[in-house]
Formats: sequence, structure tokens, C-alpha cells
Amino acid sequence: MRDNADNDAGYDFGGARFDLNAPRDREILRFILSQALYGEATGVFCGKSLYSAKSLEAAKFYLKQARQELAHLQLFADIFRALDLQPLPAHWVIKLLASHNNYYPLKVLMEHAIGEGMVLDIFKDILLQTLPDEDPRVPLIKKKLRVVCREESEHVAWGEKETARLLAEKAWLKTPYYGLVELQMAVLPVLVKTFRSQTGDHPVLAHLPGFLEHVRSRVYRQAKELGIVPAERPGPLKRTVAIGFGLALFARSQFARSRSTLEKTYIDELGLANGEPVRVTAESTTIDVSVN
Ligand SMILES: [Fe+2]
Ligand SMILES: [Fe+2]
Repeated sequence: MRDNADNDAGYDFGGARFDLNAPRDREILRFILSQALYGEATGVFCGKSLYSAKSLEAAKFYLKQARQELAHLQLFADIFRALDLQPLPAHWVIKLLASHNNYYPLKVLMEHAIGEGMVLDIFKDILLQTLPDEDPRVPLIKKKLRVVCREESEHVAWGEKETARLLAEKAWLKTPYYGLVELQMAVLPVLVKTFRSQTGDHPVLAHLPGFLEHVRSRVYRQAKELGIVPAERPGPLKRTVAIGFGLALFARSQFARSRSTLEKTYIDELGLANGEPVRVTAESTTIDVSVN
């Protein structure tokens, strides 16, 4: 699992850099940054998980995360301005991967644990390594990106924690979860194909097939640690069955309504169930609460 963005070895681009003054490189970066901008815009919808939050801890996390995603959105807008680039519409694969899902068990695995994990791969491995430090605009951009990476690694850790909790409660999720991981990994190469005609002669793009393989093996490793992917990858038949279960869970998610719980659990969550006085901390204020 990914506790800290800096602890993860990541992919090595071997010193390959973009040239921020070359029109072709600027177009490639424009594409990458446009996907990031779209991802951050949809990331803000994590605030909707407040409704499904099981605990005060979860509610606090989603509130904090929604604020951070809004700040990331603004920050990427600043990067577009700094580089004098105009955003493009998002690629359909990014729209698919970032599509909002109301079904909480699917959201925590697909969006938080795996989706944001891949976002972190792109920010940390591609952008932080391949933007040229000698360009006067880059140091400030990288400073902002490091903040984003640190926060994204917290979002991934939260997604993993919630996924593990759900798997402990609902062991039947394991097979559909595995099928969904296989499906998600199957659509990734489509993104890389966007650059297929250019990969051979560009120093950064030449690494894309290797980077893709790195991301796939990291996601499989992450899913293995969560107990979703078996130690030995199953054969095609078992994979197809798991994908079928994954698709069925996805179909269910399209009709599932999120269920609220906090209004049923808040007394327990606040520690007021046994009548003992507790102290509730709300960001900057501490309020004494006594129960008679
Ligand atoms: Fe973000
Ligand atoms: Fe995030």
C-alpha cells in the first residue's frame, strides 16, 4: 500500500525531459495536463460521499478531501496559465475512469484506492520527473505538484483503508472487485495508443510502454496487498468470470442509491451513547459537551 508518495520507488524516466518551448512537447503536455484538470474537477465530487460516510472520521475526511480537490483544480489552472496553455476536453477513457459513482463500495476501490493511485503515478512519475528544472516556470510548478502528490497519497491511503474495511464486512466483494481491477487495467493501453505514432522518436514518450507496464504491475501489487488479486494471477476463464461479476456490480451501482448512516450513528460516533461527557473538536474550536 502507498503510505507516502516519496517512499514509492516509481518509474525511472532516465533523465528524459520535455522542452517547454517546443510546440510538439507543449501539445503533449497540454494533453496530459488537460486530463489532470478534468480528474481534479470530478475529484471534487468526493464531497458527495459525505452522505454515505459511516463514521465521523469518514465525514471529516471527505470534507477535507473535497477542499483539497478544489484547491488542486485551482492549482492546475495556475499551471495552465504559467505555461500559457489552453485546456483540451478530456479523453473518453479519463471520462470513463473518472465517472461519478453513487455506490460507495465501488467508489472507494475504483476512485480512491486505484483511480487516485494512478493519478499519483502520473503526477509523481511523469510530471515531476519530465518537466525541465532549467525552465524558470518549473520550480514553482513542481512545488505545487509536490503538495498535490502528498495529498493524493493520503486519498489513496484512505481508499485502501475503506476498501479493506468493506472487504472485511462483505467478503463477497472480493471477486467483483478483482474483475473490476482487470477491466480497469484493460482500458489503460487505450490512453497510451493516443501517442502510438510518436513514441519511437520522443525521449519521454519512448518510455510510455514501460511506464504503462510499471503502473499495471503496481496496481496488481496494490490489489494483492488488499486481498483482491490472488497471489497467482488466475487463467483467462477465471478472469472472465470475475470480470462478469465486476460488470454485474457495476450494473448494480448504476441503480444503487447511497444510504446515509450518520443520522443513525451520530450518538455512538460522538461517544454520547453511555452518557459520559466528551469533548468534540471542530477544526479550530473545542466545544464541551455534557450529557445529563
Ligand atoms: Fe486531486
Ligand atoms: Fe485526490
